[in-house]
Amino acid sequence: MSKLMTARTIEEAVKKARGTRMFNESQTARENLFNQITYESSAGGTLPLSKYSFLRYQGVLPLNLPDGVRIVVLPDIHAPAHNKQWLWMIEQFLAEYRPHILIFIGDSTDFFFLSRWPKPPRQGYNAMQELEESRELHDRLIKVSGCLWAFETEGNHENRTNSFLSAVAPQISTIVDMDTQEPVMNYSKLLGYKGGERITFVTDERGFGGYGGCIILNGHKRLIHGLPLRPRAGGSPRVFTDQLGQDVMHGHSHRIGENHRETFDETLTAQEIGYLANPNRAEMSYHNLLSNGHPGLAAGEVIGGTVNLELIPIIQAIHENRLRYSMWYGDREYVTED
Ligand SMILES: [Fe+2]
Ligand SMILES: [Fe+2]
Repeated sequence: MSKLMTARTIEEAVKKARGTRMFNESQTARENLFNQITYESSAGGTLPLSKYSFLRYQGVLPLNLPDGVRIVVLPDIHAPAHNKQWLWMIEQFLAEYRPHILIFIGDSTDFFFLSRWPKPPRQGYNAMQELEESRELHDRLIKVSGCLWAFETEGNHENRTNSFLSAVAPQISTIVDMDTQEPVMNYSKLLGYKGGERITFVTDERGFGGYGGCIILNGHKRLIHGLPLRPRAGGSPRVFTDQLGQDVMHGHSHRIGENHRETFDETLTAQEIGYLANPNRAEMSYHNLLSNGHPGLAAGEVIGGTVNLELIPIIQAIHENRLRYSMWYGDREYVTED
C-alpha cells in the first residue's frame, strides 16, 4: 500500500506524498548542478553564474535554475533583532534540506543604529556589534545549509545606508568608490563581503528606496523584498502578479499569505512569506508583530522548469507540556528548544 493510501486527512496525505527525502547527494553532483545555473545578461546571451559572478548586481537579475535545484528563502531576519530560537530551528532544517541556493529576501540586517525613528532615551546601540552579529549569522546559515550560492535582495532596512547619508550628509552621499562605482557606504562592504565569495547582493536601482532590486527565477517567479502593501496578506504581491503576469514572492510585510490567479493557461501565485525578527524587541518596535505578523519562510525545488516554492509557517505548539514553536516540511517537524 502506498503511503498516500494510509493518510487520514488531506494535510497528512500531502505530507506523506512529499515525504522526508534524504538530501545527501555527493558534492560533485551538487557542483554539477551548480554549473548549470545561468543568468540572462542584459547585453544578450546566457552566461554561467559560476564563471561570471557578481558581489553586487543592481536591478533585476534573471536566473535560470535547472531541475533538481533546491531553494530556501529567508525573510526579514532583522539581525541582531532576529529570533534566536527560530533561527536555531531553521538551522536544523537547513542542515537536512541542504538547499543549493539560499536567498535572503531583504531586511536581514536591521541597521537599527541608522534608524531615524525616535529611539527610547536610554537605549544603547553599537554599530559594529550589530554588523558583526549580522555577518556571523549570515556566515552560519550559509555554512550549515551547504548552499552553493547565496543571494540577498536588499530591503528598505539595508537601504538605510543610503537614506541616512542622503538625509544627514547629502554633500557626501553621492560619493562612489572609484574602482567599483558603488556607494562608499554600501551594505555588502559593511558586512565585509568581497568579490569572489559565493554570494551576490541584488541592490536597488537608485531611487526606489530599497525596493528596486529583485531576482526572477526561470522567467516566471519574481523575488523582491517588498512592494507597496495592501491590507490583506497575499493581497500586495497579487496586484503585481496581475500586472506582470508573473509569480511574485515578497517579504517586508511580515505576514504570511498566498493568493492564486487562474488565467487561461496558467496559475499565477502571489506569496508573502512572513518574518524572523524577534517580536519582543520593543525598542525596535517589533512588538507590533505579536498581533499583526506571522513568522515563516519558504522552500522548494525546481521541477520541470518550474520553481515551486511553498510557504512554511512557524506556529506555536505544545511539546512535552512546554509551549514551543514548530514548523513542518514534508513529514518532518522541527521544534524550538529553550
Ligand atoms: Fe522587515
Ligand atoms: Fe522591509
